[in-house]
Amino acid sequence: MTSSSPMAPEAPASVATPVVEVRNVTAGYLPGVNILNSCSLVANDGELIGIIGPNGAGKSTLLKAIFGLVKVRDGDIRLRGEVITNLKANKLVAQGVGFVPQTNNVFPSLTIQENLEMGMFQKPKGVKERLEFVTEIFPELRKRLGQRAGSLSGGERQMVAMSRALMMGPHVLLLDEPSAGLSPVRQDEAFLRVKEINKAGVTTIMVEQNARRCLQICDRGYVLDQGKDAYTGTGRELLNDPKVIGLYLGTLGD
Ligand SMILES: Nc1ncnc2c1ncn2[C@@H]1O[C@H](COP(=O)(O)OP(=O)(O)OP(=O)(O)O)[C@@H](O)[C@H]1O
Ligand SMILES: [Mg+2]
Repeated sequence: MTSSSPMAPEAPASVATPVVEVRNVTAGYLPGVNILNSCSLVANDGELIGIIGPNGAGKSTLLKAIFGLVKVRDGDIRLRGEVITNLKANKLVAQGVGFVPQTNNVFPSLTIQENLEMGMFQKPKGVKERLEFVTEIFPELRKRLGQRAGSLSGGERQMVAMSRALMMGPHVLLLDEPSAGLSPVRQDEAFLRVKEINKAGVTTIMVEQNARRCLQICDRGYVLDQGKDAYTGTGRELLNDPKVIGLYLGTLGD
């Protein structure tokens, strides 16, 4: 009998290691008004997680809650098992978490290079190596390092914002609508870049308006509705779920 015989013991199934855990989080901006209502999400090591849902569902708020930018009132958030609820953004950056906000994500009066170096303020050593890494993912930035970010298109700004977050060499990346405002071809490109970053070992949580495309590339997805994780599953499961199609995909995507 050879080692490949059916009698040979199976290799144990790999066990998923949770990197980010959001447990029953309630959060909001104004006193008495909750935007997230007992919302939960898990991102395992190396996963690409997609978050979709209607406008105002709380998608951006969920990323901000993870990144310490909106007050969590109940529930908790963990990073590799350690509670990080309401920990400030600078502490999270030091722990390897990067965040690219939906809007206002570059310093317009600074050059591309200065924007990228701003991402390294906590880790001034290694700028050159990181710059090499990000300009490999975004080669179009390489030739334009001296250009002011304010003169860039929306898509180009998004690239700078992502690159800035990547300068710190994060293990976890929170992306808010990386394809927003881009032409369909540019959107495909943006998704490819996100996939590339994720494949380099960065656990990624991405909010997307382009729901169909997002579910096509993510490992698992969450549908957020009224501040709550309404549905979850693999991207494929959600794409084929009649309830998700009817409520959230019908008029979105392709
Ligand atoms: N700074 C703020 N102060 C008060 N309310 C806010 C603030 N930011 C967001 N909200 C409210 O929180 C709710 C959820 O907003 P959020 O930006 O999280 O939604 P979203 O799912 O990201 O929507 P979109 O798809 O339009 O980006 C909205 O009703 C919004 O008005
Ligand atoms: Mg949003």
